[in-house]
Amino acid sequence: MFDALKQKAAAVADRRIDGLFDDAGRAGDFSLSALGMLFDYSKTQIDADIRAELLKLAETAGVEARRDAMFAGARINETEGRAVLHTALRNLDAAPVVVDGQDVMPEVLHTLSRMEKLSEELRASDVTDVVNIGIGGSDLGPKMAVLALAPYHDGPKCHFVSNVDGADIADTLAKCDPARTVFIVASKTFTTIETMTNAASAKAWLADKGVSDAGKFIALSSNVQKAGDFGIPAERVFGFEDWVGGRYSMWGPIGLSLMIAVGPANFRAFLSGGQAMDRHFQNAPLAENLPVLLALVGIWHNQGMGHGTRAVLPYDNRLSRLPAYLQQLEMESNGKGVSMDGADLPYNSGPVVWGEPGTNGQHAFYQLIHQGTRVVPCEFMVAAQGHEPALKHHHQLLVANCLAQSEALMRGRDLDEARGKVAGLFEGAELERQARHRVFPGNRPSTTLVYPKLDAETLGKIIALYEHRVFVEGVILNINSYDQWGVELGKELATALGPVVAGEAPTTGKDGSTAQLVDFVLGHQG
Ligand code: F6P
Repeated sequence: MFDALKQKAAAVADRRIDGLFDDAGRAGDFSLSALGMLFDYSKTQIDADIRAELLKLAETAGVEARRDAMFAGARINETEGRAVLHTALRNLDAAPVVVDGQDVMPEVLHTLSRMEKLSEELRASDVTDVVNIGIGGSDLGPKMAVLALAPYHDGPKCHFVSNVDGADIADTLAKCDPARTVFIVASKTFTTIETMTNAASAKAWLADKGVSDAGKFIALSSNVQKAGDFGIPAERVFGFEDWVGGRYSMWGPIGLSLMIAVGPANFRAFLSGGQAMDRHFQNAPLAENLPVLLALVGIWHNQGMGHGTRAVLPYDNRLSRLPAYLQQLEMESNGKGVSMDGADLPYNSGPVVWGEPGTNGQHAFYQLIHQGTRVVPCEFMVAAQGHEPALKHHHQLLVANCLAQSEALMRGRDLDEARGKVAGLFEGAELERQARHRVFPGNRPSTTLVYPKLDAETLGKIIALYEHRVFVEGVILNINSYDQWGVELGKELATALGPVVAGEAPTTGKDGSTAQLVDFVLGHQG
């Protein structure tokens, strides 16, 4: 399926990307301005011919038909028999979205207004701390967004407890006053062992402190029944339907902690940014469609050039948690080895996604990005403006660093230039040896997304952009981006190992390694 792409990749493998800028129009031709943002993919090997091939792949894969089916509520998550409609959660103009003959919008908007009412109540109360207990999609999104929108945070402090490691909840509770803390139990299924264990420990902590748990818990879940069983009254339960996937759920009740932090108006601005990206994705032609182009760059690097990893590098400290959020979004969605029809995938699945904010990463792993033997396509992002007018010079340095990195990756430094750097310090063979260590191969691809300022609306656009990018890549790879069967086996084995590590069941039947590890743990209980 990707043969033509691979041939084109082989043909340009040694071509210099910087040479492509001999065409004075390249920067403009290989970038897209939309929704107030600029996406520049000109520092890649993509040329007009390669772009045409990529667009052909998107057309052949039926991206547009699949996209329309998703927005129309078709059950495109075929292995779970579910529609995929997180977009309905940000459908602020309430145009009908019909699932099984019923418009879901009245219920979506009713839940949104209940969330707004509760948020306002909490923001006006003496509650000082809100603890969101959830994991994966019930944690990463709101945690990332609360940090991203810190300049707008005027509600109670928000904490996020996810890990079953007791250290997580213990360290968090140590900062909270039991009388003024509210817990949000966020779990789509309301069965996730980490979340249920942490929620029970939060209840026990309140009891231990002599504080009643009445009014202290809120539940966000598709499993309203189970939330009730935990003892949370119906008026404090915010439900959502199974057509909202966990890692796509921060737009609805799972975003409650964000709404409490920044207020309902900012939360609506976040939704409206997401909705604007939806409209763009639905209406822009493929060649001028931001999520489509971002996806095609991904397909080019992974399936064409064979780079199985990509780094996401926000030059925006408040997007520190974005790489972690995108790891779930991208890898839980497109890390699949089987195509829609159940056959083995005959090509690589989605890439390994990782990253850290700039400039921190520059002083850690950029060495490998510049001079390592593997090419890592980089996705930079940066705001034109910061939120600290008094520290404008910081922002200028930040932007300069971001742009310098993509320039350095592309240009590199050849041996002659490197010799010039050490001339006068060394001579003869030693000069040659020293110079070689200072050579940068360059020709390393990157894209840059620039946005005006990281406000709520812009954040909504960026997150929806990446959601749709994942979807388009998934369609081209012919995989189901909306299930996650790959997380199940580990959960089952952990459940079975529970009594073994508690010393209540033997290691019989376990492999030698696992048995040895259990024995070591049991032998060091102190
Ligand atoms: O284990 C993976 C997963 O199912 C994710 O897909 C999900 O976001 C996370 O666990 C948490 O699930 P829940 O919201 O049901 O607790």
